[in-house]
Amino acid sequence: MQEICVIGAGYVGATTSVLLASLGHRVTVCEVDSKKLQLLQNGILPIYEPGLQEYLVLGLKKGNLTFTGDLGSALSDASFVFICVPTPSLEDGSADMSFVLGAAKNLADKAKHGAIVITKSTVPVGSADELLEVIDRDDIQVVSNPEFLREGNAVNDFLKPDRIVIGSTNDAAAQKVANLYTSLGAHVIITDPKSAELIKYASNSFLAMKLSFVNEIARLCDAVGASSQDVIGGFGLDTRIGSKFTQTGPGWGGSCFPKDTRALTSLARSRDIDLQMVDAAIASNLNAKLHVVRLLRKILHGELRDRKIAVWGLAFKAFTDDTRESPALHICELLIEQGCKISAFDPKVGEIDLAGIELSPTALDATIGADALLILTEWPIFSEQIPGTVLQKMAGNSILDTRGILNSTEWRDAGANLKALGNSMKKFQDS
Ligand code: UGA
Repeated sequence: MQEICVIGAGYVGATTSVLLASLGHRVTVCEVDSKKLQLLQNGILPIYEPGLQEYLVLGLKKGNLTFTGDLGSALSDASFVFICVPTPSLEDGSADMSFVLGAAKNLADKAKHGAIVITKSTVPVGSADELLEVIDRDDIQVVSNPEFLREGNAVNDFLKPDRIVIGSTNDAAAQKVANLYTSLGAHVIITDPKSAELIKYASNSFLAMKLSFVNEIARLCDAVGASSQDVIGGFGLDTRIGSKFTQTGPGWGGSCFPKDTRALTSLARSRDIDLQMVDAAIASNLNAKLHVVRLLRKILHGELRDRKIAVWGLAFKAFTDDTRESPALHICELLIEQGCKISAFDPKVGEIDLAGIELSPTALDATIGADALLILTEWPIFSEQIPGTVLQKMAGNSILDTRGILNSTEWRDAGANLKALGNSMKKFQDS
């Protein structure tokens, strides 16, 4: 059991702290947002993350998980301090380090003698050195330990990681951080801080490139009348390529891939290196969204102005309430610009800051009077809707399923003019 302080209780901080406590450590979390803090103290997770709520309640009950607004008390006994604050994009694409550096400044005179400061947030290459300078204490080591948590799957990703990456110039400090995770029995890689920081950016950028590629191949399949499911499934069976992370869709989004691909290309540019493939993946991802708008226009016979579009799904993917850089929202924005009226439903998104979207209380309500139904997030509840009932509510019968979650036979039999993005375009060309 180790004494741990976690600074920041956002997605990364909340997951890291709650699950470190589940491993038996004593964890104190410092959160500055008083509303969030109060919720956490009362055992309520401010975000939707499957399975995490139960671990939160368990930690509070066992007494080895505490939330406070006071950094001094959170740090007083901590041998390990995890920095889990955001690193959003600046205008030039580089990562904004002000929250991380602010946290480092604040902890500098309060941390226990010999404490190890760990960057969990995704931080630019060279951040460990920068933090050491800011903290300016000989007794403190800074270790990079990037997270690889997918929103919606974070509990599983934390408890069964593919690998744990630790970057430090001090072997003893690296080993101490590795020991925090011993009970997970995971593969641990110990390297220098810059390499650890870069592993994180390279992972996210590679995954983003993989998705841009499969989405491009799916568009090509549609155009030539091939089945993208068979093509992507077929090449994914080559174990050198792999079939994981090949689900086609309306483009990738969220709080990580867009920000991290921008940060990596921005870093490379600053060193006169061109990351042309990552740049291309970013550009291709914009095309993925424009393609959805183009398809919808085609389905509605060339006219989007004053069309009422029902949208199912606003979160950037299923099993999260997060709409940051959501392809769904971007596509809605593009449609609003074209004069569409949108009524949307997402099971976990309760409010939205985008003029022109009307939120509906149920999936069915969103479809009332709609000329077309557009599915943008792969929530299972959408595939459970009864085709006949939905079609009765709609004014038109056109459906564009960008996640390929509807049973096409059932919906077509019920009278839907269903187009599934990344499905066989042959069906699209025939109709
Ligand atoms: C991503 C990484 O997967 C995590 O390993 C990493 O720790 C995290 O970023 C981070 O940097 O914090 P996340 O953004 O939560 O996790 O979600 P993903 O499941 O990776 O999905 C990202 C985007 O790709 C979503 O828009 C999703 O819909 C899309 N996606 C994902 C697909 O279109 N197809 C797929 O097969 C998988």
